[in-house]
Amino acid sequence: MKKVVLAYSGGLDTTVAVPWIREKYGMEVVTLTIDIGQPKDWEAVRQKALRCGAVKAVVRDAKELFVRSLVWPALQAGALYEGKYPLATALGRPLIAKLLVDVAREEGAEAVAHGCTGKGNDQVRIDLAVAILDPALKVIAPVREWKMTRDEEIKYAKEKGLDVGEGSSGTYSTDENVWGRSIECGPLEDPWVEPPADAFAWTKEVAAAPDRPAEVTIQFERGVPVALDGKRLDPVALVGALNTLAGGHGIGRIDHVENRLIGIKSRELYEAPAAVVLHEAHRELESLTLAKDQLRFKQIVAQQYADLIYNGLWFTAFHRDLRAFVLSTQEHVTGEVRLRLGKGRVTVLGRKSPVSLYDKKLATYDRGDQFDSSAALGFIYVHGLSARTQAAKQLQLGEGGAKDILLEGPGAPPAPTGGR
Ligand code: ARG
Repeated sequence: MKKVVLAYSGGLDTTVAVPWIREKYGMEVVTLTIDIGQPKDWEAVRQKALRCGAVKAVVRDAKELFVRSLVWPALQAGALYEGKYPLATALGRPLIAKLLVDVAREEGAEAVAHGCTGKGNDQVRIDLAVAILDPALKVIAPVREWKMTRDEEIKYAKEKGLDVGEGSSGTYSTDENVWGRSIECGPLEDPWVEPPADAFAWTKEVAAAPDRPAEVTIQFERGVPVALDGKRLDPVALVGALNTLAGGHGIGRIDHVENRLIGIKSRELYEAPAAVVLHEAHRELESLTLAKDQLRFKQIVAQQYADLIYNGLWFTAFHRDLRAFVLSTQEHVTGEVRLRLGKGRVTVLGRKSPVSLYDKKLATYDRGDQFDSSAALGFIYVHGLSARTQAAKQLQLGEGGAKDILLEGPGAPPAPTGGR
């Protein structure tokens, strides 16, 4: 019999998908469950897959691989989608696709399957990554194909004798991994509605956060966080520790009306305490260790990088090219950032680096100043040459002539009139 490898979370959709694929496609189903930091009993998930009719149920721990190979590059790039979303879900997808392809090869399967819907970003990310990694593999997306509502799914599951506790579905649709938690649906679908308290699981409400802030020092080597308060930690432990610490101080809640790849606007909440703290700290260290032009250009690259991740283009030559630039910029992003975490806020207290570009002898207004102020005259002469030339030839300055440029000209805010 032909085989398919199904990415299996243990939730309702992928559980129903096991018998559905078998029936509709006449294929044997091997499930692949990937641990990228969801808090789950993996053995229970495995057993559930087998009870639903999977011929084999594989579980892979990919947490370390996820952080090292996906999360750290995104952090180094400064990738925040639309300036806000640290991309936890989006980063998980290329890894899931890669492991689906690997296991499909190991099992001699001719197809892979996933539980994504037909209107989200995730289907694009997985389908596209699989098509790039192994064009011969067929992709089956049951939820996109069947026309069942949630209730119909539950009914179908009962007919098949599957154990899918009804209450398990919940108000929200969530997705999580070590880098963050994504929450949508239910009351959140009205963008005017304040997120209800029960939408959150990783972060304390600011009002309930402790009054006493915490302080933490994060050490980076080449743009990668390696230690907290001088204690070296493996990547998964480091992210986990920061999630707990910062989440406990109400840090990491993000409310985003985002532009999905397929053109729909959607309101999504994110909880990403470690990501928020690490992006802030990393940016801060870059301000000390990168030159102005590197920094400015890197901001452009960061936006491209975030779009590329969000849009499912991880396995592309364009990514390889951007990555080469980012990696090169990270060569000297080594040092420490000291932060205060409290009441929902991250405050940078200090930063240092053995290769800092900050030079007190140049910056100081005190004794010890080594900047040659007499050089400023020549600098201003040359710097302003073009502007002065144009002003003399084309702008009628003086005697009120420069109205177009100055504040009282057209386009300036109206002068205040007397109050009533
Ligand atoms: N909007 C996010 C993204 O496209 C998360 C999608 C999954 N969210 C969820 N609640 N199931 O990356």
